[in-house]
Amino acid sequence: MKIIPQPHKIEKFAGEFVIENNDTIYSDSAFMPVAKLFAQLLHDANGTDLVFVDDMEPAKIIFTVDSVIQPDAYIIMINQGDAAISASNEVGCFYALQTLRQLFDMDGNHTPLACKNCYIEDYPKFGYRGLHVDICRHFFGLDTLKKIADLMSRVKLNKMHLHLSDDQGFRVQIDKYPLLNTVASTRSGSEVVTGGKRFVDNNPVSGYLTKQEIAEFVEYCNALHIDIIPEIDMPGHFVAALAAYPQFSCTGEVSSVRKLWGISKDILCAGNDDALQFAKDIVTEVAQLFPYELFHLGGDEAPKDRWCNCKLCKQRLSELKLASFDELQAWFVNEVRLHLQTLGKQVICWNDGIYNTTSPEVISQHWLGFKRKAMIRAANHGRKTIASPNFHMYLDYPYSITSLHKVRSLNPLKGVKRTAQGSILGVEATLWSEYIRTEDRLFFNLCPRIDAVSEVAWGSKHKGFIARVKHHNRVYDQLGIVYNKRATKRQIFGRISTTLKWWKKDSDIELIKNREVK
Ligand code: ACM
Ligand code: ZN
Repeated sequence: MKIIPQPHKIEKFAGEFVIENNDTIYSDSAFMPVAKLFAQLLHDANGTDLVFVDDMEPAKIIFTVDSVIQPDAYIIMINQGDAAISASNEVGCFYALQTLRQLFDMDGNHTPLACKNCYIEDYPKFGYRGLHVDICRHFFGLDTLKKIADLMSRVKLNKMHLHLSDDQGFRVQIDKYPLLNTVASTRSGSEVVTGGKRFVDNNPVSGYLTKQEIAEFVEYCNALHIDIIPEIDMPGHFVAALAAYPQFSCTGEVSSVRKLWGISKDILCAGNDDALQFAKDIVTEVAQLFPYELFHLGGDEAPKDRWCNCKLCKQRLSELKLASFDELQAWFVNEVRLHLQTLGKQVICWNDGIYNTTSPEVISQHWLGFKRKAMIRAANHGRKTIASPNFHMYLDYPYSITSLHKVRSLNPLKGVKRTAQGSILGVEATLWSEYIRTEDRLFFNLCPRIDAVSEVAWGSKHKGFIARVKHHNRVYDQLGIVYNKRATKRQIFGRISTTLKWWKKDSDIELIKNREVK
């Protein structure tokens, strides 16, 4: 029984349970959508069709509500010719379905579908189990996003963080400022590492999600029990928007969407009331598109060089009697946060955008792994935190830096005092896309590390992890999704040279080598 993520309790019994054509299935009405999905998956797997019955008694497969089970948890009991699935809510039942999918190896082309008799009890360790996707540096549209969401749901991840605005592109329809979807959504080239060198090419990159596409995607994710958290990164990482509306920068002189990666000194002016209104107007339109209560305001990597030399920013600082430009950022974030609060949203910021005077209401997404002590301190003081330490959770890094084992080794609660562990909402992996230019590369970076993310998020025991990942790879084979076939091997030699090649010679180096693996 090789399941990702490994359920908390599995007991095996003698004998086997076989699903045959015309077997009966019963479901309480609350779980009928999941039971129907189960029947559909069986049909898709090998043509087996189930017969729904109104009475529990004669049914061979039974989905029932059991209010004693904690929310999002589930129990599966398969014995003596029956399969009973219970949970207290639809989410828990949906997770049971994902386990059944693997238990019966529905991606493996079997006839008949069968599994060992067993008892499974399972529950997620963390409520927040996320994956961040950057569609700014390179644009990935609905088809790719839906595939990512499908993979997430299979391993029971439940939050997709969509990075919608950055220096290199603005990627969501905004009606009030049309230039955000012309000027800001296109750049004329990119920094690339290929053919043995790093340079800026002349290939345009453009695109954005329309409001209609977002509505479709929200509905799609809703069926998979995935919430979407939009991010509009500000005041830094905002060059694309400023290229369209340079009057909202400090200098008024931001002329083009950025082609280089890294950090720009040009950030949104915090002294200009119209710039603040610009920010509020954008987040208003974005907030209306996403029903989930969390909204990401970025806040990372915002150098204060421009603010230090800006008349309006200096004036704001003195009017507010602030001690530093960092405090000005905390003030700025708070203004936008209070506005978002009126729209029913809570705000997340990257940890380097959170200062002493930042509202305690702001959730921290901790990405600077070397500042782990700061994360522990913040969590111990009650700040809600999402753990994304870069060397464990940045899946844009090559496997030579962030191996499958490295991802799996994260313990987000380590060092956090027991009474404060509830402040750690969960974990999130990131897929920054500077060097992810194609869908193949995206899935190569994601798979199978997504399996490890899921095990950390779900709190699975480590035992048998590699064997389970190898087994789960058949899903990627079946779906035709590119994955790192060598990720399960411990790479002892050559990591430094691969990393150097990735950085200096060809950012697709690992993907290219992967193509040679049979
Ligand atoms: C980040 O990686 N700049 C959040
Ligand atoms: Zn300014």
